Amino acid sequence: TYVVNEKCIKCKYTDCVEVCPVDCFYEGENMLVIHPDECIDCGVCEPECPVDAIKPDTESGLEKWLELNRKFSESWPNITSKKDALPDADAHKDESEKFQKYFS
Ligand code: F3S
Repeated sequence: TYVVNEKCIKCKYTDCVEVCPVDCFYEGENMLVIHPDECIDCGVCEPECPVDAIKPDTESGLEKWLELNRKFSESWPNITSKKDALPDADAHKDESEKFQKYFS
């Protein structure tokens, strides 16, 4: 499966949603997540994200993010079409520690 990581927080560009053939993205206030059981591992979303927030779970260090994607995809609503990015997305795109600062 692919997972959405911290880089999405406060940005939410949603280019990923547009290309997903199985509509497996779910939307929270500050970020999106991928449902790991619905993702078919096609990989088309990965290059679409302008902040590089989507990675295959085979990359190291993503255990926490896989768990978070799984947990929140169970309760957040499905998102199936692209929408405007968050208003300050460009200001937040290179920021670090976004999870501690903004995730709630
Ligand atoms: Fe987030 Fe990137 Fe999609 S910022 S909403 S993972 S295009």
